[in-house]
Amino acid sequence: DWTMDNIIDEKVAEIREQVGEKKVILALSGGVDSSVTAALVHRAIGDQLTCVFVNHGMLRKGEPEMVEEVFRKQFNVPLIHVHAEERYSRMLAGVSDPEQKRRLIGTQFWKEFFSVAQELDGIEYLAQGTIYPDIIESGARKTGGKASTIKSHHNLIPFPDGVHFDLIEPLDHFFKDEVRELGIALGLPDKLVWRQPFPGPGLAIRIIGEVTPEKLAILKEADAVVREELDAYNQRLFEETGDRNSEHACWQYFAVLPDIRSVGVMGDERTYQRPVIVRAVESSDAMTADWAKLPYDVIGRISSRIVDEVDGVNRVVYDVTPKPPATIEWE
Ligand code: XMP
Repeated sequence: DWTMDNIIDEKVAEIREQVGEKKVILALSGGVDSSVTAALVHRAIGDQLTCVFVNHGMLRKGEPEMVEEVFRKQFNVPLIHVHAEERYSRMLAGVSDPEQKRRLIGTQFWKEFFSVAQELDGIEYLAQGTIYPDIIESGARKTGGKASTIKSHHNLIPFPDGVHFDLIEPLDHFFKDEVRELGIALGLPDKLVWRQPFPGPGLAIRIIGEVTPEKLAILKEADAVVREELDAYNQRLFEETGDRNSEHACWQYFAVLPDIRSVGVMGDERTYQRPVIVRAVESSDAMTADWAKLPYDVIGRISSRIVDEVDGVNRVVYDVTPKPPATIEWE
């Protein structure tokens, strides 16, 4: 629409002015903020932008393919797909503590990113999808200062010794809903713009205990079923109410794989396989959440599809705990 187009023109002019003929790099995660930043910066400076997508192997089913499809094929952005799956898999072997998983995954992410960034010639800027609430969270609440007077969380990026890029953060005055509108206006697909929040450490913190290739494979398939069914459920609510954020729409919905087995029966045979936990919550900001009161037929279909379609799973349970006292994630 008219206003969004104006905002885009203004941002494009700003970015061109700031960057000139220089080159920019961006860490693309497939999330809303980094994707909209990529689309916007690319609109401004075209092939002066290179996107680096670090694939740690713990993204959801179909996500690496979506990033390739949208950015390489549709937008034609120079994209470096870093296949780090094997390195992450080796690094996480034997690790079961959730905070240690987070630390290792986060540290390795920047290592992978900077090792690519340093090989490229003449990059001077790093574009980041920092949005306004990120800035408030990282500073204003702690300092009590006005948001406009505090610095964004720039310095959280662990630049390696001797490495420095200036930052471009074109979304740093926007709220999430505005970022989504920008994304739509820039031509990003709905499924990306309306993507649910997904943690940086990915499926690693939805596999309780050690992450193994076998558990990852099971979780990806089970999670794909949960998303397919609840994407459709949210879509039906949207069509009925005209509101994407309608009260009963699910905010986050996913599968979790606990580190236990349970007995089941199949034909005349006793099975001893994995249960899958389904987590679906309503929330507006992830600070508090309630379990989604899904219709029984929706829960039932998710359950029967998972046990039918995913090898190694013989039981499905639904998490009915609000936050607090539980958290949204299991780890
Ligand atoms: P919890 O589980 O604390 O999660 O209720 C609140 C929100 O934060 C997300 N989350 C994470 N996001 N890295 C992230 O980028 C993380 O390590 C992480 N842990 C939780 C969670 O998905 C929810 O939206």
